[in-house]
Amino acid sequence: MKILVVGGAGYIGSHMLRRLQKTNYKVEVLDNLSTGYEENTLGFQFHKCDLANKDQLNSILQNNYDLVMHFASYINVGESYLYPQKYYENNVNNTMNLLNCMVDQKILNFIFSSSAAVYGDPGPSPISEEENINPVNPYGQTKAMVENILKDYDRAYGLKSTCLRYFNACGAHLDGTIGESHNPETHLIPLVLQAASGRKNSITVFGDDYTTKDGTCIRDYIHVMDLAEAHLLALDSLRSKQISNIYNIGNNIGFSVKEIIEIAEDVTQRKIKINIESRRKGDPAQLVANNKKIKEELNWTAQYSDLKTIISSAWQWEKKLLQSN
Ligand code: UFG
Repeated sequence: MKILVVGGAGYIGSHMLRRLQKTNYKVEVLDNLSTGYEENTLGFQFHKCDLANKDQLNSILQNNYDLVMHFASYINVGESYLYPQKYYENNVNNTMNLLNCMVDQKILNFIFSSSAAVYGDPGPSPISEEENINPVNPYGQTKAMVENILKDYDRAYGLKSTCLRYFNACGAHLDGTIGESHNPETHLIPLVLQAASGRKNSITVFGDDYTTKDGTCIRDYIHVMDLAEAHLLALDSLRSKQISNIYNIGNNIGFSVKEIIEIAEDVTQRKIKINIESRRKGDPAQLVANNKKIKEELNWTAQYSDLKTIISSAWQWEKKLLQSN
């Protein structure tokens, strides 16, 4: 089987490539390098291409792929409010370019990086896949739109897909060679660790007046290597069953922002300065996955998603980034 990993130079895509390296699948990578790093794709046939470039995309997709995994999207909720056009163009229009080329080339298997953001600000956690789709920000809208497009493309063109709704992806590869390097960084764990390493003075906590146990937001943190494993299981299931499906990928446990900071202080043995600010727009109080479906149907279990492993691996990566700066 031959797989094209779109967005393979980025954070989650590069961890996926590492996991795929241990399989017998033939794997190629497509990325425009707008946020990814070419060195993450070393050892793979690499196509530098922007999904907006339909001609180039069409010619690359003539390489007899059986399945496409799509990691290439913009992911910053705050930015999506400011520049919705950027988000709809890349996350929706460019994804449609990819899907249309796939249908033309009769590549009818697709794994899509969706998000817990499709649930918006849901009722009580944990949230199952049956929960209403009601995104509250443009980023979440783009993911929900692609999920809907995929339903129609299945009915009309027989394109079978698996949508994986990530909760909070985090951590770094345990071998210490790849990790999270967004620019600018907006995610909690890398920013907390930058405050521990001294690259930042403090961590800003966005709101301590939520109706949660300590007033700060609760999230379900899932190690990026567990995410990659879930993709592999989803891929095998999609190939053998040829049924479109949707799964949450989360750990079924929520941690507050303050708890993350406490565990980071413990792992790093550094004091982290906290600066409380008002709520960030579009942040739901609590997002925790019900992961029963992926556990039962794909036999997935999280191996690396205890918070100590997540934060130790991210800390190892932060120290590496600090040295290279
Ligand atoms: N937070 C802070 N300070 C910061 C950064 C974050 O207090 O400097 C808080 C946020 O308010 C939030 C929590 O930490 O309550 C986690 O924030 P992140 O920015 O790390 O992640 P989000 O939960 O906002 O979003 C992430 C992904 C989205 C995805 C979502 C699904 O970035 O793409 O998880 O749960 F949709």
